[in-house]
Amino acid sequence: MSELDFIQSFLRDNRDYVLEKYMGKTALTVTSKSSATDLLTEVDLTIQQRFVEQVRRDYPGDVIVGEEGEYARLPEDEEARAWVIDPVDGTYNFVRGIFPEFGISIAFVKSGIAQAGGVLLPEPDLTMLAERGAGSFRNGEKLRVSEVQRLSEACVDIDSGGIEGRKTLLKKAQDALLGAGVLRCRGSAVVSICQIATADTEGYLHMRLQPWDFAAAQLIVEEAGGMASRPDGTPLRLFDRMRGAVVISNGAIHQELLDGIKR
Ligand code: IPD
Ligand code: CA
Ligand code: CA
Repeated sequence: MSELDFIQSFLRDNRDYVLEKYMGKTALTVTSKSSATDLLTEVDLTIQQRFVEQVRRDYPGDVIVGEEGEYARLPEDEEARAWVIDPVDGTYNFVRGIFPEFGISIAFVKSGIAQAGGVLLPEPDLTMLAERGAGSFRNGEKLRVSEVQRLSEACVDIDSGGIEGRKTLLKKAQDALLGAGVLRCRGSAVVSICQIATADTEGYLHMRLQPWDFAAAQLIVEEAGGMASRPDGTPLRLFDRMRGAVVISNGAIHQELLDGIKR
């Protein structure tokens, strides 16, 4: 079984559980982490725990990076084989029952570069998969970014995490925000980034994103012909920092987005 098959089968096996919790068929326990709106549920913990157990069984010795608990750290050896999981991205939407915009995100990484990635949006049952050099697919259909060429005609998605991210976005990215044709804010980085791969939008900006928020989705966009970088144009690497600014796009509007962000 390839690493991509492993990701795909984990996502498929866990859809029903996540959906059942989202639909309120089984009670949900909600607590908060760093602030009252930074939420945690047993779904986040259960999905991550199941994944850890399966990686330990099938790939003993591989490093695991994940949003929850002791796994929320960068690998000591950046060169190591690693798995990066966000068990539920968009937990706030998930808990509030906001129109389903949340997903499970998993990437397999070698030397700090994602080699395989998968995102499951349980409702409406969409699985996005990518392997480096082999393209990206949504439920088996090949993906290609949009051909919109100008920022003024583009749909750009933004988000901020906490207040610090919001302050930085407003302070530094004002020109990019004002230059975009349309702005959206989904509340799930994996949804927002994957929508560039599916040609529904053209750009995504976040000033403090963590590796598990974009590991799989970045690969899915790149394999669909898009681009990802830091605001200064340097490559977007997974393990060079915990919270960093990301610019992801269909490629055509990338330079205009970068020009609209102060260094
Ligand atoms: C959050 C979402 C949100 C982004 C935050 C992330 P979580 O992930 O992706 O859109 O703005 O920075 O932390 O906490 O729902 O997994
Ligand atoms: Ca997340
Ligand atoms: Ca999460």
